[in-house]
Amino acid sequence: MSIFKISTDCNNYFSFVRKDYDCMTNARKWTAGKIAVTLTIPLLVNVAQPTLKETFKNDFLIGAALNTRQIEEKDTGAARLIASQFNAVTPENIMKAEVIHPGWDTYRFDLADELVAYARKNNMKVNAHNLIWHSQLPAFVRRMKDADSVRSYFVNHINTVAARYDGSVYSWDVVNEALNEDGTMRNSIFLQKLGEDYVVDAFRLAQKATPHSKLYYNDYNIEQPKKRAGAIALIKKIQAAGVRIDGVGIQGHWRAAHVPMADIEESIRAFSALGIEVMFTELDLSVLPNPGDRTTADVGQTAGYQASLNPYPDGLPDSVANMQAAAYADLFRLFLKYPGKVSRVTFWGVGDGGSWLNDWPIRGRTNYPLLFDRQLRPKKAYFSVLAAKSH
Ligand code: XIL
Repeated sequence: MSIFKISTDCNNYFSFVRKDYDCMTNARKWTAGKIAVTLTIPLLVNVAQPTLKETFKNDFLIGAALNTRQIEEKDTGAARLIASQFNAVTPENIMKAEVIHPGWDTYRFDLADELVAYARKNNMKVNAHNLIWHSQLPAFVRRMKDADSVRSYFVNHINTVAARYDGSVYSWDVVNEALNEDGTMRNSIFLQKLGEDYVVDAFRLAQKATPHSKLYYNDYNIEQPKKRAGAIALIKKIQAAGVRIDGVGIQGHWRAAHVPMADIEESIRAFSALGIEVMFTELDLSVLPNPGDRTTADVGQTAGYQASLNPYPDGLPDSVANMQAAAYADLFRLFLKYPGKVSRVTFWGVGDGGSWLNDWPIRGRTNYPLLFDRQLRPKKAYFSVLAAKSH
């Protein structure tokens, strides 16, 4: 239960949930028959309302990507907010290969172990992110020239890391971002050195190393028709090989003004028809212009700073906040339209200040993609997401 006491929260809450309340006058209008009565209630409004995870408890898990400070609960206010709002956690960086496996025989498990303990204490499910990805690879792998070395790394990495957390993480993003926009396989070091069966091999190894974790394929833009077709082919190939895949993660790094609703809906149908879970795993809705007007989440694609591409350094205009809140509400209504098909919705961060979108694809911008603002106060988008459950 959260208690919002200040008038801005009052405005947010009542504009979405209780249209009969006026926050300026603290008055509530009661209408009995033809007689309208206006009551004035105390200035501090205590509004106890269900949090995100409580609101959607019968629908899907609600997750957040967390950084090390958040996992270590350095900030008490943030820690309380995160524990009350989310029941799933994805490590934003600490389980990526460059952190967890920095040298041939060197593994660094301390941070991931802390994450597991944190999640247990707070009753959250861990989605471990990720085993095989072309980005954030340790330097020793990036330098590899021969296929045998890459194969040894690939096998050792999956066997060692996945096995260590068997039984303590709920799920793994086994392979991340293996596809190009046209649905063909991305020309990564794994494709080059191991051939296109590497994705099936990764799932086969993971299934053996971590029999108790769910195994997922995760990518961005796979709601788009061509890339979606590539993902469907990949998933079918894994299934045809008799290897387990439990779900697919659509990252969901979209622009608030251009959320591809029809493609998302079609993807929920098409992926769930394969008998697997559908998840939205890295949700954030950017409000900033994209260089070249592209939609991508390719971490390798960056651009230089221009003031014109950073229009809201001092605050988000109401009109944009409203547009974003409406986009989030539409999305959640769509997720709710497919009961039992969407199993988790994870935000890529908690508050706007910590979002990776302040520094990608352009460094040093001020973005506002999440449900909580820079002070971790709930935004209009937060209230619109909650209201999506009842409207
Ligand atoms: C991002 C992190 O948020 C950043 O902190 C890091 O510098 C780069 O990676 N797709 C993914 C995530 O699967 O792992 C990426 O996370 C964002 C895009």
